[in-house]
Amino acid sequence: MAAVAGSAGRSARPVVALALLLLAVSAAAPVATAGASAAVNGDRLRAEQIRKQASDAAASAAALAAASRRLHLDRARHLRLLSSLHRNLTNTLRALSLAADAATVSDPFSDPAAAANASSSRQLDLQAKDLIRAARAAIADSKPLFDPQLKIQRLKDAIFAQNELLARAKKRGAFASLIAAKSIPKPLHCLAVRLTAERIARPEQYAEPVPPPRALEDPALFHYAIFSDNVLAASCVVRSAVANSIDPSKHVFHVVTDRMNLGAMQVIIRRMDLKGAHYEVKAFEDYKFLNSSYVPVLRQLESANLQKFYFENKLENATKDASNMKFRNPKYLSMLNHLRFYLPEMYPKLHRILFLDDDVVVQRDLTGLWKIDMDGKVNGAVETCFGSFHRYWQYMNFSHPLIKAKFSPNACGWAYGMNFFDLDSWRREKCTEQYHYWQNQNENRTLWKLGTLPPGLITFYSTTKPLDKSWHVLGLGYNPSISMEEIRNAAVVHFNGNMKPWLDIGMNQFRHLWTKYVDYDDEYIRQCNFAPP
Ligand SMILES: *[C@@H]1O[C@H](CO)[C@@H](O)[C@H](O)[C@H]1NC(C)=O
Ligand SMILES: *[C@@H]1O[C@H](CO)[C@@H](O)[C@H](O)[C@H]1NC(C)=O
Ligand SMILES: *[C@@H]1O[C@H](CO)[C@@H](O)[C@H](O)[C@H]1NC(C)=O
Ligand SMILES: *[C@@H]1O[C@H](CO)[C@@H](O)[C@H](O)[C@H]1NC(C)=O
Ligand SMILES: *[C@@H]1O[C@H](CO)[C@@H](O)[C@H](O)[C@H]1NC(C)=O
Ligand SMILES: *[C@@H]1O[C@H](CO)[C@@H](O)[C@H](O)[C@H]1NC(C)=O
Repeated sequence: MAAVAGSAGRSARPVVALALLLLAVSAAAPVATAGASAAVNGDRLRAEQIRKQASDAAASAAALAAASRRLHLDRARHLRLLSSLHRNLTNTLRALSLAADAATVSDPFSDPAAAANASSSRQLDLQAKDLIRAARAAIADSKPLFDPQLKIQRLKDAIFAQNELLARAKKRGAFASLIAAKSIPKPLHCLAVRLTAERIARPEQYAEPVPPPRALEDPALFHYAIFSDNVLAASCVVRSAVANSIDPSKHVFHVVTDRMNLGAMQVIIRRMDLKGAHYEVKAFEDYKFLNSSYVPVLRQLESANLQKFYFENKLENATKDASNMKFRNPKYLSMLNHLRFYLPEMYPKLHRILFLDDDVVVQRDLTGLWKIDMDGKVNGAVETCFGSFHRYWQYMNFSHPLIKAKFSPNACGWAYGMNFFDLDSWRREKCTEQYHYWQNQNENRTLWKLGTLPPGLITFYSTTKPLDKSWHVLGLGYNPSISMEEIRNAAVVHFNGNMKPWLDIGMNQFRHLWTKYVDYDDEYIRQCNFAPP
């Protein structure tokens, strides 16, 4: 836990500190009521002292929280600005090249239309220059955001110097690590910004091939779906899969991210040595069928009520209750997370696809999955139940008549993270419609509270095929006692849990399994202070 207090993602600290302080304040009170006669005065003084310290620290923490929130918002705004510039620049460049093509086949001096074109092309030139200037300024502006925040550092020191509070930090471990996992660490943000800047500076180098490679739709190849807004994590999934495949040229990676991270994701994947493997990088916003008239989650996201539920940022109340905090995490409702329910429509030409989370590492050639007889089932997954744990009743509301009528409370849960989907069976069983039905029923969150696992368990209730456990070993983000033997034999290991290997709170004994697929020689990764372990 010392790692959290000492060096976790910067934006994580204030909230943690605040939580600790609230505890400190409430813990101080009983001291005053203890003891009798002579002891009372001493106790009261001590209690006063503690209360004073706590209230000073609480004020510092509130200031720190506010500063940190501002910092976080600033960074998000910058990334949005850069990505908008990127989009505009790409459009301008496309127009420019069209104009250039037209110009080569005509003579501006004898042809007035061509002259008009030439002048509009000059206009475009100017526009492009303006955009590039704006991009440079934006990048320069964002520099201070990546430099150490001296003020915050000082406040932090004042707060964390108190051993008393550190001891309490240990007790609040789960809460603290949830916050740390939720916030974007500075190096990761830096990486996204630098890569986006590179994408802007050299658009021609990273342009997607037109037309797209035939391999993307070739059902005879091995296809992977990776949906992520974490460029480093996604790149490690692809690198590990390529590194361990027997014939990379037979593998195709479909990486989907959001608009904001598209440029960065294109650059990081393009810069990798894929050894002949094929790939595409897209933004989910580019799939036009994913609109709120079709997708219940988008409709629900747009509903004002839910927006409030997920995005209101009331630190005061949030710090009181870790589980409540979890419900507020927008991650649980982001479209990127729900894309997994649209695989057949996203890849209409494919028969089968392997879905990988961005917090996995591939350790073996996976083509054996394509040889498994799926018995007409849709979802190949490892089961996670043991004893009474990880059974359906833990994931959904069995007091609800709809749930009670349809599912067995003791049905065995399975894991997302490495799922082999038979898309033909999916289309035949109309699983997307099922998912829509249930997601609509859950509009007011009475069937399940959060995440994609409950709707997954519901959607693929009778269409899941259990896979051998060695395909997918889970828990490297929370369970320190997984056997090394089990990990060595795993085709895919999964850092599910809050202690992600890219965070300072990642578990040391497992981290190397992930870091060995980080390209520490890459200049952008180095520039953003990722150091080899
Ligand atoms: C990009 O273009 C849009 C539409 O023309 C405009 O609203 C936006 O301000 C531009 N973004 C930047 C950063 O110039
Ligand atoms: C002017 O540009 C347009 C496209 O921008 C092109 O279709 C047209 O042929 C051009 N005209 C001439 C005379 O070059
Ligand atoms: C929304 O998606 C549906 C199909 O999923 C499509 O028919 C419709 O045209 C889309 N609407 C827009 C505005 O793109
Ligand atoms: C925190 O919760 C209490 C009770 O639910 C409410 O009265 C108060 O206004 C909340 N505080 C904030 C800042 O939302
Ligand atoms: C919850 O939503 C369902 C389906 O939309 C609706 O039938 C039900 O009345 C709602 N319940 C409450 C308490 O709002
Ligand atoms: C479970 O469902 C019942 C019946 O619809 C509802 O009254 C209850 O509030 C639900 N529980 C939760 C935690 O949403």
